[in-house]
Amino acid sequence: MDFFQAVRKRRSIYTLTAKSTLEEKEITDFLELALANSPSAFNSQSARLLAAFGESHKKIWDIARKALKEIIPSEKFPPTEAKIKSFADAFGTVLFFEETKTVAELQSKFPAYKDNFPLWSQQANGMLQYIVWTGFAALGMAANLQHYNPLIDGEIAKTFKIPPSWKLVAQMPFGISPEQAPDKEIIPPAQRLKVYR
Ligand SMILES: Cc1cc2nc3c(=O)[nH]c(=O)nc-3n(C[C@H](O)[C@H](O)[C@H](O)COP(=O)(O)O)c2cc1C
Repeated sequence: MDFFQAVRKRRSIYTLTAKSTLEEKEITDFLELALANSPSAFNSQSARLLAAFGESHKKIWDIARKALKEIIPSEKFPPTEAKIKSFADAFGTVLFFEETKTVAELQSKFPAYKDNFPLWSQQANGMLQYIVWTGFAALGMAANLQHYNPLIDGEIAKTFKIPPSWKLVAQMPFGISPEQAPDKEIIPPAQRLKVYR
């Protein structure tokens, strides 16, 4: 699939199945390609990934379900539980982290940019998220982007032995989907683009 086709195809898709177009090894190779080729400020490469398949994937969404159950009144819990189940039904989940040690080192090395490094690290993480999300679309799968951090950070760290300096940024369940993304409201792009010559 060409790049622009994949850009068009990437959508937030919430009906995901436990099926994949690729073997796990091919998926981790693709994630390594994304890590190696996504840009970062000062080439700092502060993004980190965890690829969860099988029981590990299920554990992530069990952690989220339990954490949410603690804070949502029981009569309001069923729709939340159904949403979490839709993520658990996927083939796998990619967790996105940032290595905060890298950010702190850059801040002390280049004090003039101190305030920028945390922003740049988040921006770079977003670029990596986009490569992975669009990559799944190019590979015939679908995904969506979730943010149950910081609620689940402690249990995720404990379960997967995550170094304390890795900060959870986003969660991306993925898999083959039977669903076509519905049309979305699009502000006419020309209204958002200034052109000068
Ligand atoms: C930075 C960012 C944060 C997002 N957070 C969430 C989220 O927590 N949960 C969710 O379901 N979708 C989330 N989304 C997906 C957006 O809702 C979605 O991209 C937007 O509605 C456009 O739809 P599309 O992805 O199908 O193009 C997020 C997207 C971005 C870029």
